[in-house]
Amino acid sequence: MEILNGLDFSSILRAKQLLEKGGVVAFPTETVYGLGADALNPYAVAKIFEIKRRPRFDPLIVHIDRREWLEELSSNLPKKALLLTERFWPGPLTIILKKRPIIPDIVTAGLSTVGIRMPAHPVAQELIRSLNRPIAAPSANPFGYISPTMADHVAHMLKDRVEVILDGGKSVFGIESTIVSFLDDSVFINRHGAISAEEISDVIGPVLDAKDKGVCESPGSLPYHYSPHKPLKIVNSPLEIATEDSSFLSFKRPLIRVISRYVRILSEQGDLREAAANFFSYLIELDKKDVGIIYAERIPEKGLGKAIMERLKKASKKHTHTTL
Ligand code: TXA
Ligand code: MG
Repeated sequence: MEILNGLDFSSILRAKQLLEKGGVVAFPTETVYGLGADALNPYAVAKIFEIKRRPRFDPLIVHIDRREWLEELSSNLPKKALLLTERFWPGPLTIILKKRPIIPDIVTAGLSTVGIRMPAHPVAQELIRSLNRPIAAPSANPFGYISPTMADHVAHMLKDRVEVILDGGKSVFGIESTIVSFLDDSVFINRHGAISAEEISDVIGPVLDAKDKGVCESPGSLPYHYSPHKPLKIVNSPLEIATEDSSFLSFKRPLIRVISRYVRILSEQGDLREAAANFFSYLIELDKKDVGIIYAERIPEKGLGKAIMERLKKASKKHTHTTL
C-alpha cells in the first residue's frame, strides 16, 4: 500500500491507470475518504464490496465531475433535485434518482434508483475528470466502522487491501454527504449529513425524514454503524461518567472537572461545523486508547448537530465488527 500526494499530477495518473485496469483506489473528498472504482465496470465495483466486507444489498454512491453525466446515468431529474444541485454542487449532497441501465446492478444493489454526488474536493474532481468516467465509492472504512477523514486513517483501516491511497489532507466537512430522495413533489432526507436539513429547506421548502415516513430509507441504514471497537455511551453531562477508565468525547469545553483519562473537545465554543469536522477523527483517536469505554456528550439536535447525533446514536449500539 502506498500513500501518494493527491496534488501531484503523477499520483492522479497512477491512480487513474489503476482504475482503468479495474482496480480500486482510496481518494479524499470534502466529506470523508472514499474507496473508488470505475462505476461502469461491475468487476471493479465488486472489489469494493470485498475490500470493505460490505453486504451486497447496500448500494454505492456514484461520483461525477460534471452535470452532463446526470443525463447519462439517470432518466428523470425532478425540479427540486435540479434546484438543490444548483445550490449545493459541487459539494456534500447526494441525490437519489431513477437509474439508467448503463449503471451495473451491483452499484445500486439491484435497486431501480442510483445515488449521485458531485464532490467538491479538487483531488476527487481531478481523478474523475482524468478517468473520464464516474467513480462508485463508499466511505473507505471496513463495513460498520468509523469513517476515515485522513489518508492515515485509511492506511490503518484497510492496510494492504488497497494499493493506492491519494492523500488530500483532512476532510473539511468530516461527516458524510446528506442524502435526499424525491417522491411526487416531496423531498426526503435519507441520511442527515454535511448539509443540514435547514439549509435544504431554505432552497426547496419543507423536507421529510425518510425514517419517519417509512419510505425509501437507505438499504444500508442499519441500526449500528460508525462504530468504535470500544463500547460507547452517550451522556447528558460529564457528571454521568462512572469510571476513570474511560475516554470522553466532549462537545464543548467542559465546565466541570472530567474524571476520564482522555478527553477530546469537538469544539471549544460549541461550533457545530467544527464539531462535525473533528468528530470521526477524534472518535478514531479515542478508540485506540487503552480504556474500557468511551463516553460522548449529547449534542443539540439542530443543524449539523442532527447529523452528528445520528452517527453517535448508531455508534452506541452494540454489535460485532468485521475485522480485517
Ligand atoms: O460523503 C459521502 O457520501 C461519502 C463520500 C465518499 O462520497 N460516501 C459515503 O458512501 O458515505 P457510503 O457507501 O458509506 O454510504 C452511502 C449510503 C448508504 O447508506 C447507501 O445505502 C445509500 O447511501 N444509498 C446509495 N445508493 C442508494 C439508493 N439508490 N437508494 C437509497 N440509498 C442509497
Ligand atoms: Mg459509509
